[in-house]
Amino acid sequence: MKFSRQAESIRTSKILEAAAEINLRNQRGEEIDNLTIGDFDSRIFPVPEALAEAVAAAYRDRETNYPGATGMPRLREAVAEMLKRLCAAPVRAEDVLIAGGTRPLIYALYQTVLDAGERVVYPVPSWNNRAYAELAGAEAVEVEAGADNNFMPRAEQLAPHLGEAALLALCSPQNPTGTLFAEENLREICELVVAENRRRGSGKKPLYVMFDQVYWALTFGGAFRHPLALCPQIADCAVFVDGLSKAYAATGLRVGWATGPRDLLAKMSSLIAHIGAWAPRPEQVAAGMFLEDERAVDRHLERFRERLSARLEAFHEGFRELKARGRGIDAIAPQAAIYLSVKIAAKNMGDEELRAHLLNEAKIGILPFSWFGARDAKNWFRLSVGACRRARIPEIIARLDGALGKL
Ligand SMILES: Cc1ncc(COP(=O)(O)O)c(C=O)c1O
Repeated sequence: MKFSRQAESIRTSKILEAAAEINLRNQRGEEIDNLTIGDFDSRIFPVPEALAEAVAAAYRDRETNYPGATGMPRLREAVAEMLKRLCAAPVRAEDVLIAGGTRPLIYALYQTVLDAGERVVYPVPSWNNRAYAELAGAEAVEVEAGADNNFMPRAEQLAPHLGEAALLALCSPQNPTGTLFAEENLREICELVVAENRRRGSGKKPLYVMFDQVYWALTFGGAFRHPLALCPQIADCAVFVDGLSKAYAATGLRVGWATGPRDLLAKMSSLIAHIGAWAPRPEQVAAGMFLEDERAVDRHLERFRERLSARLEAFHEGFRELKARGRGIDAIAPQAAIYLSVKIAAKNMGDEELRAHLLNEAKIGILPFSWFGARDAKNWFRLSVGACRRARIPEIIARLDGALGKL
């Protein structure tokens, strides 16, 4: 062994590898529609102009020093106000921690609440929990969520595992499914967590719960509910992570925030400070100014949701037509984020093989749910519209039709 055990066991993301393979093939002259990525093509979905301008201005104004361990006060204030205004979450600026995107916050939370060998419970399919669990040396308890509940976990599925757990990690709206908790489902889970902590009493380490809400502002039809608005008692043990990345097509700006109990955020902040995984100061200054501008935020989000949901709806409609014509295909109606859950049944073909067939024959890149930890979601795939021009969709559907016809 040349490195630490942790380094030896670390794996690069298969998802990033798949995207890199498509990029390489496209550079060599193929024309593959890349529907694999959890990112945006900035020519199609640029960051809001006011945000881009504010970043440039902050660099010019020499906002170029350390940003402070917990983040710039104006941004913390703007995040708290935005969360109060747009999703009825009673958050104070002192309870907001800023970091270089959502990822460092998730990493820091896992490290802060889990000792080696302790259990973290999360549903599958889901994004990257396995990696964070491994990095914390924790035991992963994966709960399989099914198509019957839009791939969101039900309270009764989680309940048997919470007694022994240190962390419950949830994500809504969810990657890879593009679905979100129904209100009652979410309320029941929150109440379970509150009941479990009541059972443990004040002397014991509580069950913590993470809500990754990085896609909340991209929910169609106003269906998102903040857990704190449904179940205020969860505040003592819940951490919410979020950021600019998805809602503002700003994955490269690296600004994320967590809200939660102050003592817990202080520990996360110390950890993040040692890594130096702060959000860059110019981006923080700009994000603070931008998020304060209610009109700019509302205008961007409204238009962005419209453009994303129009693409997802067009795919959904296309798949319904293929289904009506007898192709073994199905999809869950778009609910949120940039993803569609699509079921493609191919006789005698596993999901890996079907993925390769669609890549080679239809020139379409999509990812099986098995890559997101699911064992029982055979035939289900994630389709992302972050890099998709609307005008391409009829042709993509036709090529999919053709490739399935060859099976
Ligand atoms: C559910 C979820 N959380 C967090 C992230 C990471 O976000 P960030 O770019 O802010 O680190 C992603 C990115 O794909 C995601 O899908």
